[in-house]
Amino acid sequence: MSSRTVVRGGLVITASDELHADVLIEDGRIAALAASGTPAAEAFTAERTLDATGKYVLPGGVDGHTHMEMPFGGTYASDTFETGTRAAAWGGTTTIVDFAIQSVGGALREGLDAWHAKAEGNCAIDYGFHMIVSDVTEDTLKEMDLLVDEGVTSFKQFMAYPGVFYSDDGQILRAMQRAAGNGGLIMMHAENGIAIDVLVEQALARGDTDPRFHGEVRRALLEAEATHRAVRLAQVAGAPLYVVHVSAREALAELARARDEGLPVFGETCPQYLFLSTDNLAEPDFEGAKYVCSTPLRPREHQAALWRGLRTDDLQVVSTDHCPFCFTGQKELGRGDFSKIPNGLPGVEHRMDLLHQAVVEGRLSRRRWIELACAAPARMFGLYPRKGTLAPGSDADLVLYDPHAEQVLSAASHHMNVDYSAYEGRRITGRVDTVLSRGEPVVTEGKFTGRAGHGRYLPRSTCQYLD
Ligand code: URP
Ligand code: ZN
Ligand code: ZN
Ligand code: ZN
Repeated sequence: MSSRTVVRGGLVITASDELHADVLIEDGRIAALAASGTPAAEAFTAERTLDATGKYVLPGGVDGHTHMEMPFGGTYASDTFETGTRAAAWGGTTTIVDFAIQSVGGALREGLDAWHAKAEGNCAIDYGFHMIVSDVTEDTLKEMDLLVDEGVTSFKQFMAYPGVFYSDDGQILRAMQRAAGNGGLIMMHAENGIAIDVLVEQALARGDTDPRFHGEVRRALLEAEATHRAVRLAQVAGAPLYVVHVSAREALAELARARDEGLPVFGETCPQYLFLSTDNLAEPDFEGAKYVCSTPLRPREHQAALWRGLRTDDLQVVSTDHCPFCFTGQKELGRGDFSKIPNGLPGVEHRMDLLHQAVVEGRLSRRRWIELACAAPARMFGLYPRKGTLAPGSDADLVLYDPHAEQVLSAASHHMNVDYSAYEGRRITGRVDTVLSRGEPVVTEGKFTGRAGHGRYLPRSTCQYLD
């Protein structure tokens, strides 16, 4: 028995088109689209009809950078795959790509198996994995080939966090060379962690222990320097490069320069760098700890450069880097020593809304919003056109979005498992109304109607920007 749904009367928005159209869904996939009111649309028949009049009909969001249950600094990110994917669904995101972690001395396979075990049966929406490579050895390099073949096609390395995830330039070059051969994409955390650790030690010795010093020691120049080095190492290896969580305009300038040279270099930024700043890190009474993440928040002046980068395609993707830690009991681990504050911000629920606010304010077009939040991450991570667009054959991951609804972001009303909001009190025009994941309603008129275990693992093809 087939199950069919028709979504009628909405403004369908993809990265390339806007059209008042009806969408026919059959067996979890999009079967057809037709301009509303035309005979073709009138001919759609279905067991269920959703009225999207006055609403946008969007592809489900693709968040290419999340950390559910991530171990960090002696604790774990507070969202599980269950709570985090539920919150994502509430915010109109229907796919996440999370990071499995290789422990130092361990195999990639062990890390990947461990992350499958955390996620399987618990997710409300579909999910894939990148692999964090913490230890480049001959065995690891061989394992990279196997992982690419089975759908883990991207590998994160860290130029930061010596002693934890850190890779030196030789290890990075080797992994990049391997990726050049097997089609994998290296994702880089670009900050000079060796130099930063010296500045951390000096700051603490001076008694500069407050959260704001986290931002001061992680200098923009050290993000730019590492970005430059990553670009040139990738160039030497003949590999593509994707730089995660770009926050400094000087780092963005390195990416723009590389792209102008024709190099296959890509970049992502996150809502926190577009909407928050060092003003938040400087909030009194240790409140600044809520905003500690790496790369750090920057002075406001950097925001204009990031918005421009999003418009000019020097940055291709907006992900959240969702990595929540509660203020009570987790962020508090760093009272008296900012270097002990677990790094990361909650955000998986708010990406679509915050970027819509940018549409409302005239910073982005509607189609660019969908490009940055849906289509580009799907293409970057080998999920397109199954995810990231609305086309016949695509998974029926759809968001009915009310562009005129008003909401106020708050920890009192969000669904992430964290005791504060980084956007407390922020007014947003626009709100998710209904969300379908493979045709099944996971959010219905603002209420969660999904279930843990609906979400399926997504093996991915290689980066589609290189096809
Ligand atoms: O502060 C952050 N970003 N925490 C998550 C880990 C990472 O580096 O992405
Ligand atoms: Zn990172
Ligand atoms: Zn350019
Ligand atoms: Zn991250």
